[in-house]
Amino acid sequence: HRHLIDIREYSADDIMLMLQTAERFRSVNERRVKKVPTLKGFTVVNMFFNEPSTRTRSSFEIAEKRLSCDSLNFGGSSTSSVKGESLKDTVETLCAYKIDMIIVRDKHAGVPHQIAETSGVSVIDAGDGKHQHPTQALLDLYSIWQAKGTLDGLKVGVVGDVAHSRVCGSLVPALNTMGCEVTLIAPPTLLPAAPEALGAHHVTSNLDEALGELDVVYMLRIQQERLENSPFPNLREYSMLYGLNEKRDKLLRPDAIVCHPGPINRGVELDDFMADHPQRSVILDQVYAGILVRMAAMYLLLGGSEDGLTA
Ligand code: CP
Repeated sequence: HRHLIDIREYSADDIMLMLQTAERFRSVNERRVKKVPTLKGFTVVNMFFNEPSTRTRSSFEIAEKRLSCDSLNFGGSSTSSVKGESLKDTVETLCAYKIDMIIVRDKHAGVPHQIAETSGVSVIDAGDGKHQHPTQALLDLYSIWQAKGTLDGLKVGVVGDVAHSRVCGSLVPALNTMGCEVTLIAPPTLLPAAPEALGAHHVTSNLDEALGELDVVYMLRIQQERLENSPFPNLREYSMLYGLNEKRDKLLRPDAIVCHPGPINRGVELDDFMADHPQRSVILDQVYAGILVRMAAMYLLLGGSEDGLTA
C-alpha cells in the first residue's frame, strides 16, 4: 500500500503484517537507545490543521524521531491558509520540497483522500471528520491482540456514540476483517443509519444485557463537539445507561478488558474505577501502541531500510 486512509482496503494479512511489524518495533522502543536509522533521509510533514490532538500528534512525532526521519510540523494559524491559500496550493508547495509523506488530521472528512489524489506522496489519515482514523484502529487491534493473544473469534462490544465516531469508521470494519464478532451498543439516536454496513454483527441498546458476553468492551467518547442537533444525551442519563462503572464491573467476564481511544470524559463513559482498573483497563497500553503502529505504518508505506528491524 502507498496510503493509509481507508482501512477497508487492508486485508487481514495486511493488517497482521502491520501488527507484527509494530511488535518488532516494540523491541526497539524497549531498548535504552530507542532510535534506529530505518527512515534516515526521508522527510515527513505532519499537517494537523484545524482540529486538536494530544495522542495522535505526539505519538507520530515520537515515532518519526525514533525512525530518524526529518519531520516538519505544519498547520494552524501560522500558515498562509489563513490568507485564503487553498489546500491544493498548500500541498503543492510542500511537495515542491521533495517530501515523502504527509500525515494529516483535519475536521473535514475526505481531506486525506484529496491530498493523496493531488500529491505524489504517501498519505496517512490521522483522523478526518467523522470518516476514519485508521492508525487508531491499528493501535486498538494491537493492544487487544497483545492482551488476548489472538483476534480471531473475540467478542467485542463497541459502546456509545457510534454515529459521530471516526474511530468506529475504521475500527469496526478492521475488527470484522480480523475475525472478531462485533456488537454495537448505543441508544438508537447515536447509531448510524445502517450499522451493518460498518461491519457490525449485532446491534443493541441494552448495555447490561450485552456485557456478560464480551471479551473486549470498547468505550467511545461522547463527541460533545458534534452533538449540537442530537436529541441525546443528557449526560447524566447517558452515563446511567451507557457508562461503564464500578457497579457494572460484576456484569463483566472476569477476563474482559476495557479500551477507550482517549480523550476520556471521566464520569461520563467511564468512571475512575474502570478507567484506571489495573487488570481491565488497557487504555495506556493503547497509548503506547500508538508509537509502535505508527512506526510500522510509516516504515511499511515508505519502504525504509531493514536497519533496526533486524535487531
Ligand atoms: N485518540 C485520539 O485520536 O486522540 P487525540 O485526538 O488526542 O489525537
